[in-house]
Amino acid sequence: MNYIKILIGSFLILGFAVNVTAQDLAKGKKIYETRCLVCHQADGGGVPNMNAPLDGSSNVVGNDLARLVRIIKGGYSEKIALDGMYYSNAMTANPDFKDADIANVLSYIRTSWSNKATVVTEAQVIAAKNKK
Ligand code: HEC
Repeated sequence: MNYIKILIGSFLILGFAVNVTAQDLAKGKKIYETRCLVCHQADGGGVPNMNAPLDGSSNVVGNDLARLVRIIKGGYSEKIALDGMYYSNAMTANPDFKDADIANVLSYIRTSWSNKATVVTEAQVIAAKNKK
C-alpha cells in the first residue's frame, strides 16, 4: 500500500516538474519574440555581419552562464570574434529583466532550433551573477 502511495507521489512530482519546465519555455519564447527576435530572428540565425546567430553558437550552448547572464542583462558590443565571425550591431541592455526572465529566455535559446543544451533555473542565474 505504501509502495503504491510513493509511486503515485513520484508521478505527481515528476508531472509537476515537467509542467514547470514547459511553462517556463513558453515564457522564454514570449520574451524572445518581444525582445530578441528583431535582431536575432525567428530562426535564431541572426543577420550576417550584423547580429550574431544564437542557433549553433558555441557560447549559447556552452557552460559560461555568468557571461550569458551578463550579456542579456547589460547588453553587448565587444566586437570580438564569436565562432570566428564579427557583428557590427550593438546589443541593447535589458535592465528590467528579473532573474526568472533571464532563466526563461536562456532556457529557450539553449533548447531551440538546433541547440540542445540544458535549461537554466532562476537559482543558476542568481549563482552566476554572484560569481564575479
Ligand atoms: C539590437 C539588436 C539586438 C537585440 C534586441 C538583442 N541582441 Fe543579442 N546580440 C546582438 C548583437 C549585435 C550581438 C553581438 C555583438 C558583438 O559581437 O559585439 C549579440 C550577441 C548576443 C549573445 C552572445 C552570442 C555569442 O555567440 O556569444 C547572446 C547570448 C545574445 N545576444 C542573446 C540575446 C537575447 C537573449 C536577447 C533578447 C533578450 C537579445 N540578444 C537581444 C544584437 C541584439
